[in-house]
Amino acid sequence: MKVLAFNSSARPVGQSKTLLVLSRLVKGMAEAGAEVEIVNLREKKINDCIGCFTCWTKTPGACIHQDDMTRELFPKWMAADIVIYASPLYHFTVNAAMKRFIERTLPVLKPYLIRKNIKEGTTHPLRGPHPAAVFVSVAGFPDESVFDALSYWARALTSRGNNLVAEIYIPGAEAMVHHWRGEEILAAVEQAGREIVLQGSVSPSTMQQIKQPIDDPDLVAAISNSSWKAMIAQGLTPAEADRQGLNYRPDSLDSFMAMLSFGFNPAKAEGRKGVLQFAFTDENPQECYFVIDEKSCIPHAGRAEQADCIVSGPFEVWADIIQGKADGGQMFMEGKYTAEGNFPLMMVFGKN
Ligand SMILES: Cc1cc2nc3c(=O)[nH]c(=O)nc-3n(C[C@H](O)[C@H](O)[C@H](O)COP(=O)(O)O)c2cc1C
Repeated sequence: MKVLAFNSSARPVGQSKTLLVLSRLVKGMAEAGAEVEIVNLREKKINDCIGCFTCWTKTPGACIHQDDMTRELFPKWMAADIVIYASPLYHFTVNAAMKRFIERTLPVLKPYLIRKNIKEGTTHPLRGPHPAAVFVSVAGFPDESVFDALSYWARALTSRGNNLVAEIYIPGAEAMVHHWRGEEILAAVEQAGREIVLQGSVSPSTMQQIKQPIDDPDLVAAISNSSWKAMIAQGLTPAEADRQGLNYRPDSLDSFMAMLSFGFNPAKAEGRKGVLQFAFTDENPQECYFVIDEKSCIPHAGRAEQADCIVSGPFEVWADIIQGKADGGQMFMEGKYTAEGNFPLMMVFGKN
């Protein structure tokens, strides 16, 4: 099976979430025996379709342009069994580079209009082989519905003869890479790659794993907003902030809950289970707790019915600790906060 994957992200390896997800999908496909090639569209010269219809009239099936699309990519596209269209979500759809590429596949169609029926409408007959499709996209927003328009479009586009094998959409992708659940989602994407090659589709259980929300959308929004505020304050782009290891500071209960739970490290939580309560002793006291169960850490606002460890202290002390301005152990020794009960529960956060 020949799989040709088009990546239209403008961002490089390490920064591009499209490429991150795509790499795991094709890893699974290659493991299952497929011959896989990734093409980065940003490295190719592809002109805009100019709507001349030369490919439908004077030179049927051949585009008027002479560029990487005519010379290399269109023939490869037609020869593939499966094509993966992997694009970042830009303004609720594929980005311009992917749209430009897809528009240039027009020569595969003949001009005639075929009326299917009232429901399915009108289509064009195919001139040549049309590979099956997999759509992959990533978005900044955490809502699953952010891909509704793209999915509608992908289904319309692929209704003209080929089949849509799978749609793999990851909302909240910028935050996913910082969350302990991110690896679970990426492992499921890899499994989807194996299943597409071996079974021709993605099983409902794998799709459910892929679609699991990385976290509560309110917390994803809170952590994103804290990171944008920090980058604006420092005058850094996301790439520069990553390079410099810019630390973010919680400025609300939601962003505190998000930053602490995102920083949960299952490798440090082996054998650790229980409820970790935080009670902030500020003028307007606020509380939240984390249910820790070895492989997961679920944050909640408010007071737990029963807590195994209770941490009390001012919010700003904890903001300093999370930002890396203060050391948690040191602050405890200095009496800046107290921890009662099963305090090893506090050790499940942070890198190894
Ligand atoms: C021009 C532009 C438009 C975007 N539009 C959306 C959008 O409509 N919805 C969304 O959730 N994210 C949107 N985003 C965020 C990207 O989808 C997100 O940053 C994604 O990780 C980019 O993919 P990449 O990392 O592979 O480049 C947009 C980003 C840019 C630069």
